[in-house]
Amino acid sequence: ISLGSCTMKLNAASELLPLSRPEFTNIHPLAPEEQATGYRELVDNLSEMLKVITGLTGVSLQPNSGAAGEYAGLRVIRSYLESIRQGHRNKVLIPASAHGTNPASAVQAGFDTITCACDELGNVDMKDLKEKAESNRKELAALMITYPSTHGIFETEIKEICRIIHACGAQVYMDGANMNAQVGLTNPGTIGADVCHLNLHKTFASPHGGGGPGVGPICVAKHLTPFLPGHGIFGNQQNEVSAAPFGSAGILPITYGYIRMIGAEGLTQTAKIAVLNANYLAACLNETYGTVYRGENGFVGHEMILECRKITEETGITENDIAKRLMDYGYHAPTLSFPVHGTLMIEPTESESLAELDNFVNTMLHIWIEIQEVKNNEADKADNVLINAPHPEYEIVGDWSHAYSREKAAYPIDSVKENKFWINVARV
Ligand SMILES: Cc1ncc(COP(=O)(O)O)c(C=O)c1O
Repeated sequence: ISLGSCTMKLNAASELLPLSRPEFTNIHPLAPEEQATGYRELVDNLSEMLKVITGLTGVSLQPNSGAAGEYAGLRVIRSYLESIRQGHRNKVLIPASAHGTNPASAVQAGFDTITCACDELGNVDMKDLKEKAESNRKELAALMITYPSTHGIFETEIKEICRIIHACGAQVYMDGANMNAQVGLTNPGTIGADVCHLNLHKTFASPHGGGGPGVGPICVAKHLTPFLPGHGIFGNQQNEVSAAPFGSAGILPITYGYIRMIGAEGLTQTAKIAVLNANYLAACLNETYGTVYRGENGFVGHEMILECRKITEETGITENDIAKRLMDYGYHAPTLSFPVHGTLMIEPTESESLAELDNFVNTMLHIWIEIQEVKNNEADKADNVLINAPHPEYEIVGDWSHAYSREKAAYPIDSVKENKFWINVARV
């Protein structure tokens, strides 16, 4: 499973170029410090940049993924609580809009989890949050909150949420995997979080890979810095989470190069465009599919959840059929049925051009027409382009007995005629 799979932004080749230099690639992760002074400078400079970006004081680049960052951050919180004689605090409050890795990491780190409800708009239900924080006041270790949330919105009450949790003597863990909607505009330090992780493979240009290598650094507020992961090589193994002292250090030059090349202004611009692109798609698809959640001001954040449940009710066509049909149009299916069943979650990111966004909108609207054909009985309910999708080349050139044409299956719009990506396998 690839890391950070919901943010598949495009990364420039220039960011990867340093990795072809032997000075970067030929070094062993456990090389003695005096043979790696250049790397150390890069690690220190990058850490300083991440402190500025997150508004926090300490950084560890050791975790190898976002989820590993969550685990490391929670261990840091536990160590801190133990140091102030609050080690008995063993519960972590997690809103339903959090990313799925949050509860998994909390359990892995030995905590019990409590789920906090969300309201109809997708925001944290403040009444439920207050009640659960209050009734678990003495045992509460932390809140883990994804911001902007997996519901694709910025919680307007985020500062109040942090205040409530702190008033209970607990810590706030902000899942910063969606940081590409924040950089330069706001940050975990500003909202009052104590710990956050970043997904360098989502926000800062390193590749997702097939399971890695990833980097999920944690950034922490001042009172937590003494508890950051150490490493045996430095004679202090506290909260160590990776065999190598700086985790996947070999790919740090990518993020370093990305930040240096794009600069502070460029980073802020990417955050604005990430949010703009998601809102552009949401606006273009509002009259047809519609989005499940919007923030209080009517906008989505970095991503949006496309409503498909009504379509299923009316036509039998599911979000799964739409995802598979997208492959016929050359698109990798977006996140499916997460975090809301019966929906598609789409995150265009800042890296897609307007032309590409328009092509995607055109594709989704064309699929909408195909859905209407099923609804209006113009297409056979049991044999249509959606439920049979995707259509690989071997099916198109083979015997054909479908109620629709080969052309409709394989070349539904002009852009596909010009640039067809053939899927290898049909639906199993
Ligand atoms: C909000 C959020 N948190 C955490 C993660 C987990 O990151 P990783 O896949 O690097 O473990 C993701 C991954 O996409 C995410 O979107």
